[in-house]
Amino acid sequence: MIRIHWLVIGVSVALAAQDSKPVTFNRDIAPIMFRSCAMCHRPGEAAPFSLLTYSDAKKHARQIADVTRSRAMPPWLPEPQQLKFADEMRLAQAGIDLIQRWVEQGALEGDTKDLPAPPKFVEGWQLGKPDLVLTAKKPLELSPQRTDTYWNFIFPVPITETRWVKAIEIRPGDKRYVHHANILVDRSSASRKREAEPGAGFGGMEIRIESQVFDPDSHLLFWKPGTVPYVEPEGMALRLDKGTDLILNTHLQPSGKPEVIQPSIGLYFTPQAATKLPMLLQLENDVQLDIPPGRKDFLVTDEFTLPVDVDLMAIYPHAHYLGKDIQAFATLPDGTKKTLIHIPHWNLNWQAVYRYTQPVRLPKGTKVSLRYTYDNSDENPLNPNQPPARVVGGNRSRDEMCHLWLQVLPVNFDAALGDPRMALQEALARHNVEKNPGDFEAHYNLAAMLQAKDKLDAAIGEYELAVRLRPEDAAANNALGAALVAAGHPDRGAGYLRTALKARPDYFDAHYNLGFALAGQDDFEGASQQFTLALQLQPDDANVEANLGTALAQMGRFPEAKSHFERALQIDPNQAIAKENLEALRKEVSPY
Ligand code: HEC
Repeated sequence: MIRIHWLVIGVSVALAAQDSKPVTFNRDIAPIMFRSCAMCHRPGEAAPFSLLTYSDAKKHARQIADVTRSRAMPPWLPEPQQLKFADEMRLAQAGIDLIQRWVEQGALEGDTKDLPAPPKFVEGWQLGKPDLVLTAKKPLELSPQRTDTYWNFIFPVPITETRWVKAIEIRPGDKRYVHHANILVDRSSASRKREAEPGAGFGGMEIRIESQVFDPDSHLLFWKPGTVPYVEPEGMALRLDKGTDLILNTHLQPSGKPEVIQPSIGLYFTPQAATKLPMLLQLENDVQLDIPPGRKDFLVTDEFTLPVDVDLMAIYPHAHYLGKDIQAFATLPDGTKKTLIHIPHWNLNWQAVYRYTQPVRLPKGTKVSLRYTYDNSDENPLNPNQPPARVVGGNRSRDEMCHLWLQVLPVNFDAALGDPRMALQEALARHNVEKNPGDFEAHYNLAAMLQAKDKLDAAIGEYELAVRLRPEDAAANNALGAALVAAGHPDRGAGYLRTALKARPDYFDAHYNLGFALAGQDDFEGASQQFTLALQLQPDDANVEANLGTALAQMGRFPEAKSHFERALQIDPNQAIAKENLEALRKEVSPY
C-alpha cells in the first residue's frame, strides 16, 4: 500500500512540474515527431511535407494539432484491444495533449540543448542488398487525371529451381502516388495471359488467381507508406518455384500531372526450406452486399468454425469505400470471446495487414466471426456516388467487398493425420458451399479438395454441381471428365472433356485426359490423335510422348511407337512407361 502511495505522489509531482513549464518543440514535441511521424514525413516518403525540424513543424502546427486530436494522424485504424499488434502507430493520449498545449502556447521552439538526435533511416533497400531485384519491365504512365488507378505489374521470377524467400521488400516507385501495394503469388501463369503484351501489366483493383492444385496462399505481402519489410519468423518462408510469377497489385493516386511509375521488388532468400506452413483463411460474404442508397448501417456477417487448433499470426480486413465499422472476433469453445480487430472508422486508403505481437492460440471449435457495417448515405465522405446509389458486391472500386484474411499456422502437425491445412481448406470449402449453394467456385474448390484427399465419388458429385452452374466452363468440365476417367468411367468422362475442348481448344490437360478416356474405351486411333494435339501444345512432355507411343503400339504401329518411346526417354531418361514398353517391344517384336 505504502509503495503505491509513493508512486502516485511521484507521478503527480512530475506532471505538476511539467505543467508549469511551457511546452517546447525541442524538449516535448520533437521526440513525438521523430518516433511517430518522420517515417513518412521526410523527403522521398509518402507524406506531402517533412516533419523533421522545428520550422517544418511550426509551419503546420495548427494542422498537426487537428489531425492528432482527431487521430487522423498517424494513420492507425484499429481501436486499442487486449490482443496487441506489432508496430502499432497510435499516439498515447498524453502525447496528443502535449501537442495541443504546444500549439495553444504559440508553438515554441525551446532550448536547442533539449533537442534529441534526429532519427536515422536506412537509405535504399531497408534490409540491405537483396539477393534478387526484379523491376517492372514496362513503366506505367499515369494519365494527368486525379482519379484513383489500380494497376497490376507482373514480375516473372528468373530462377531455375525452387527457392525459399525470407523477406520481400517492395519499392513501389514514387511513394507520393502509390497508396498501397500487395503481392500475389501466381503459380499458374494465369495473370500473364491478361497482358496485352509481355511486361505491360493490366488494370484492375482486385485480382483472383485460380489454382488447379492444392497450394493455398500462405503469406500476406503488403506495402503501404511507412511499412518496414517483414522478415518471416524462424521456420517460415515463401516457396517460389521455377515459372512462378509475382503480381504487384497497386493502388495509385495520380497527382494531376503526368507521372511514371516503375516498381521494383527485392527478394531475400534463405537456404532453409520452410518447416512451418501457415495458410490464409478467407472469410467473406460478398453475396450479402446489396446496399440500398441512403442506408447507414448495412450489416454483413460471416462465421467459420475452426476444425483444427491454429495460431493466428496476422489479420487483414478489406472493404471498399462504404465500409464503416469493421469487427472480427473469436468465440472459443469455452465461451471466451476475443476481439481480433475492431476498426470503428474504416478507411480503404489506410488499409493494412496487422500482425499480432504474439501468435493468438485458437483451439479447434473456435468460431471466428466477422461483422462489417457499411454506410451508403451522403454522410459518408468517401461514398463514391453522390447522390448515393445502390451498391453491390464486386471487384471494381465502386462495388463493395466484405473480406477478412487470417494468416494461421496449424498447431499440431501430425503426419499421420495428414496436412492440417487440408482439413482447414476442406472445412472452408464446405462452409462456402453451405453459405452459397449457387456459387460455382465454392463447389469447384470443394471438389478439388475432395479429389486431393482421394474421395473421388464425393468429388465427382461436387464437380457435377459446378458444371451444372457453369455448363461451358472449361476447367470444371475437364476436372469432372478426368475424375470420371480416374473412377473407371471413361465413356462418361469423354463427353465432359469434349465440352472442355469446345470451350478452350488449346487446353493441354483436356487433350491429355481425353486421350486417356479414349484409350480406356479401346479407341486407340482417337487417343493417339488427342496425345498428338497435346504434344503440339507442349512439345517437351515426356508423359505425353510415352502415352502416344503406347497408343500406337496398341494399334501395331511399332516403328512409330518406338520413336515416341525414345523421344520420351530423351526428354526424361526416367520415364517409366517408355522404358518398360520399349523393353517389351524389343523382346516381343524382335525386328524393332
Ligand atoms: C504512415 C505514414 C504516415 C505517418 C506515420 C504520419 N503521416 Fe501524416 N500524412 C501521411 C500522408 C500520406 C499524408 C497525405 C494526406 C493523406 O493521404 O491523407 C499525410 C498528411 C498529413 C497532414 C496534412 C493533413 C491534411 O489534411 O492535409 C498532417 C498535418 C500530418 N500528416 C501530420 C502528421 C503527424 C503530426 C504525424 C505523426 C504524429 C503523422 N502525420 C504521421 C502519412 C503519414
